[in-house]
Amino acid sequence: MDKAQQDALKKAAGIEAAKLIHSGMIAGLGTGSTVRFLVDELGRRVKEEGLEFTGVTTSRRTQEQAEGYGIKIVDIDDVDHIDVTIDGADEVDKNFNGIKGGGAALLWEKIVATNSNKIVWIVDESKVVDTIGKFPLPVEVIPFGAGQVIKKFEAKGYKPVLRLDADGKEVRTDENNFVVDLHLDRIDHPQELAQDLITTVGVVEHGLFLNMVDQVIVGDPNGPRILDNPNKK
Ligand code: 5RP
Repeated sequence: MDKAQQDALKKAAGIEAAKLIHSGMIAGLGTGSTVRFLVDELGRRVKEEGLEFTGVTTSRRTQEQAEGYGIKIVDIDDVDHIDVTIDGADEVDKNFNGIKGGGAALLWEKIVATNSNKIVWIVDESKVVDTIGKFPLPVEVIPFGAGQVIKKFEAKGYKPVLRLDADGKEVRTDENNFVVDLHLDRIDHPQELAQDLITTVGVVEHGLFLNMVDQVIVGDPNGPRILDNPNKK
């Protein structure tokens, strides 16, 4: 699949997911290229259909895009609930376990997700996999002592790589932390790995989102496909 085809599937998933947002709702808005299509569609509906809703964003990038369309964005601590959060994902398997954080927004994404009544992911079909882990697993770490955390990951065989930008500088998250990507190739025991990562001092959060998502909307050449998580009904 080339990039244009992939973008078309991402856009179709984003447009489908935008139908879940109605006036009066509080919506969590994720981060990434698929979510950009979602926000474009919501912006169109605000302008053309008079849609009025409040958003809580998972990154400053999404906040800027949404506010550019006149969408009202508030701080997560200024809402008492979030009706639905729509976000992208890097991989998702048949047990609705996924990897997120390709866009370095995993910490805010997990905080918004855990405070949402419903979580929906929008992906193109290439993200649906048998076993997660081919996509390097992002881990957000505190800069102080990050080298020591990386050494611990190396000793465990996690193949860590500190994420750098195009200028060779460490990528910083919206919380000013580093991202370390674990090149695991496959993750057969995600719960155990999640537990090990989150109990490593210096780790703030990891990109394993295990059985959290309620629904996945897959951009498919035959039209968007909806996968409902049976464990969340
Ligand atoms: C950002 C994320 C994104 O949702 C994920 O990387 C998917 O991005 P894209 O829609 O660009 O493929 O987790 O931290």
